[in-house]
Amino acid sequence: MSRKPVIAGNWKMHNLQQEAIDLTNGIMQELKSEDKALLPEVIIAPTFTSLYAANKALKDCGCGKVRLAAQNCYYETKGAFTGECSVEMLKDTGCEYIIIGHSERRQYFGETDEMVNKKAKSILNNGLVPIICCGESLEQREAGITDYHIASQITKALRDLTKEEVSKSIIAYEPIWAIGTGKTCDSVEANRVIAMIRNVVKGLYDTDTANSIRILYGGSVKPATIKEQMAQSDIDGALVGGASLTADSFAQIVKGAICNSCV
Ligand code: PGA
Repeated sequence: MSRKPVIAGNWKMHNLQQEAIDLTNGIMQELKSEDKALLPEVIIAPTFTSLYAANKALKDCGCGKVRLAAQNCYYETKGAFTGECSVEMLKDTGCEYIIIGHSERRQYFGETDEMVNKKAKSILNNGLVPIICCGESLEQREAGITDYHIASQITKALRDLTKEEVSKSIIAYEPIWAIGTGKTCDSVEANRVIAMIRNVVKGLYDTDTANSIRILYGGSVKPATIKEQMAQSDIDGALVGGASLTADSFAQIVKGAICNSCV
């Protein structure tokens, strides 16, 4: 079964509005001569304040090769939740995807598995796609509990979702020790964990759902690593942090994920 690859750029807390416009335009320029049908699903996730500007740049270009994501959301629809953004608000700004459960949100902002689950439900109810992050710390890896930890994160994140909803969702496996460190997880090991995640989905749902859900690798992905990562059986793409902040390196990663057998 062929799954369409996904390359998502997580800009984190970078880029003022004009910088976001320039980067968005730069990425589209780099991808200009590429056949849209062969490209992976290309996603950029600017910070909240740059979403409008980036969306405008995408619309002005009109090439439809790049889509918009937010880096976070709140699960309530509206109300007295100072500082938060609902899924509907993000959809209104042009977002089609929302990253949830990123390790930085879990570590610095107390995001729990239960919150990730509520956010996933709200995102899917609004017709958007959640990009659900999971990953182990170095301590957990050294203690030999990587698989147990990830299986638990995924099981809790997907609680009460239907198989149709799960089939549409995206998971990103991001070992915390590989994020922003330059230490990419070995591709074979990343593929092993991702295949394990797929097996967890199979256990919770069925083979079709497990074969439909796209599962990305994230953690120091670079132009030099993407081809080997994409050559693995279960890695469907990448969630890219640092290397998504320049048009050239992000576009190289996108081009490294062009899939000739996925059209
Ligand atoms: P990195 O970040 O590519 O800079 O390691 C990945 C992420 O946090 O999503």
